[in-house]
Amino acid sequence: MTTLQDCRALDAADPLRPLRDLFTLPAGVTYLDGNSLGPLPRATAARVARTIDEEWGEGLIRSWNSAGWFEMPQRIGDRIGQLVGAKAGETVATDTTSVNLYKVLSAALSVAGSGPRVVLSERSNFPTDLYIAESLCRERGFQLVLVEPDAIEARIAEGIAVLMLTHVNYRTGAMHDMARLTALAHAHGALVVWDLAHSAGAVPVDLNGADADFAVGCGYKYLNGGPGAPAFLWVHARHASRFVQPLSGWWGHAEPFEFTPGYRPAEGVTRYLCGTQTVLGMVALDCGLDTLHATDMAALRRKSLALTDLFISLVGQRCASHGLALVTPREHAKRGSQVCLSREEGAYAIVQALIARGVIGDFRAPDILRFGFTPLYLGFEDVWNAVEHLRDVMDTREWQQPQFNRRNAVT
Ligand SMILES: Cc1ncc(COP(=O)(O)O)c(C=O)c1O
Repeated sequence: MTTLQDCRALDAADPLRPLRDLFTLPAGVTYLDGNSLGPLPRATAARVARTIDEEWGEGLIRSWNSAGWFEMPQRIGDRIGQLVGAKAGETVATDTTSVNLYKVLSAALSVAGSGPRVVLSERSNFPTDLYIAESLCRERGFQLVLVEPDAIEARIAEGIAVLMLTHVNYRTGAMHDMARLTALAHAHGALVVWDLAHSAGAVPVDLNGADADFAVGCGYKYLNGGPGAPAFLWVHARHASRFVQPLSGWWGHAEPFEFTPGYRPAEGVTRYLCGTQTVLGMVALDCGLDTLHATDMAALRRKSLALTDLFISLVGQRCASHGLALVTPREHAKRGSQVCLSREEGAYAIVQALIARGVIGDFRAPDILRFGFTPLYLGFEDVWNAVEHLRDVMDTREWQQPQFNRRNAVT
């Protein structure tokens, strides 16, 4: 049996403990939702204010050159790339994950050979990925085939054009074997697009090691870039100048300030930019990345697994009689940095009751209680406290109170 004292001892021995001072977290809050919106880094407000007051206010339009605004997509993209096994010059920070997925999937479809015109994905992939794929497939004459995770390999072997998967599933926290699935898809002549929304900054990723083709991901989750932060996009160097993405805006032009009427794509991943970048969002994302670059992904993964292991075992020890089922795989190699539980009745209300107590996780329809564990600012005692609140909410049936059963627009 694990005790509170054990958790305190783990915190005392934790080399990442000082990193929580990089964030401003409200008192009394245990934040288990950094997988949805990362918390505010302490440095962000002043840095954004400086950009507004000095770079915008004083520098005005000169700041595109003098403050490095123009190069931000590539510079910040490379900082993200270092977290996901990209080489310099392969990643840009830009636009949203949905828009970036449209660009890379479209590029992948544009070179599909004479083989089966099929895009393969997982039925429980994040909806925006499926919606984007659905409309692109309709437009380009492809079929979108959705299967359960355990049927992916067999379906690849039947022949596909593109495999499009999210590396860590948003609802279950289950993680695919990127290297294995990429190799299998390549062996059958297909290209692979990975969505790293729940992987970048959460688990070690090696895009080049896996020889992947394309990847996209979010800036506002584990990268702590703030609400609506720019997303990112990665293309393997062997493809970067081969394909033209369809959103051919002037930021992806070889010489945008020549203002020529015809489109000529820039070399490399720069051609995946479209229009003017959101400078304030980029600056905040840069501050979020500072928090990750204060350590390394191996250290974060070690602690993330220790935190999620502890949560799983404490829920087993202390909430056993409450009908909560573990949805996330126990096996380390198959788990991201979140733990999901399911309950037939009351999952939404239980999450609401926890939020009212300051333990912030979230609910995913129809029956998932989702808890994200970010080792940068969470400690082992936080995990203990979260499970104690969960136990108490269940023991006292607090979740049955009417105020916890009224649905908000964002869950
Ligand atoms: C796997 C995945 N892809 C994409 C998105 C969101 O994309 P966007 O930033 O375009 O809203 C999410 C959001 O939670 C996600 O979980």
